[in-house]
Amino acid sequence: MSYVTFTNMSHLIAPSILAADFSNLQSEVEMINSSQADWIHIDVMDGVFVPNISFGLPVIKSFKKHAKKPLDVHLMIVEPDKYIKAFKDVGADILTVHYEACDHLHRSIQAIKENDMKAGVAINPHTSVQLLKDVIKEIDLVCLMSVNPGFGGQTFIENTYFKTRELKDLISSFNSNCKIEIDGGVNLDNAGPLIKAGADILVAGNTVFAAEDPTDTISKLKAINLDVVA
Ligand code: DX5
Ligand code: ZN
Repeated sequence: MSYVTFTNMSHLIAPSILAADFSNLQSEVEMINSSQADWIHIDVMDGVFVPNISFGLPVIKSFKKHAKKPLDVHLMIVEPDKYIKAFKDVGADILTVHYEACDHLHRSIQAIKENDMKAGVAINPHTSVQLLKDVIKEIDLVCLMSVNPGFGGQTFIENTYFKTRELKDLISSFNSNCKIEIDGGVNLDNAGPLIKAGADILVAGNTVFAAEDPTDTISKLKAINLDVVA
């Protein structure tokens, strides 16, 4: 498919639209389009899997009309299998489901891939990365939640560094091409150490959209150079 490639990549930045100004979504998308951001992260919450409701299919469809970068859709919903095709139809390029929300995770992953999207699996802070070993060769990314899902602007959970290293080892031991995405509380201080620990994709909501200059903040996240990370 598509313009989402995972080979030879340096780290990617995915601003999370949850923290954007919803009354000005078009200009927020245009800001991302003209920035150094790689993907646009889109959080879908159903008020059941997580204690918050965000937005759904019609909003993503409108969004897609303006977006020039891949849509990285993170489903925080129960029974995601019911909606996999619907998210493809509104323009998702990467579709991530939660380990904790899928009774038949292997089937969900296959369905995402059959719908020609990259397949991601997200795990909550309490969920062990070892639980992914039987699907690690099947998936394109693991989204490590570094906050409890449901809200933007929360404090980064430090144990994520440990989980990132552990996941990196698991991926290597299975010779998998799976990438590691970190979601929640990412900022200019923890971004470098996260990349050093093995992160490939950094999601950033408030760090980008609450900044005085969001475009410049995206550039700073993108420019992190591992040689200067302590
Ligand atoms: C949390 C969401 C995150 C959120 C990140 O449930 O999955 O993607 O938008 O926002 P920040 O970067 O503000 O923690
Ligand atoms: Zn998210």
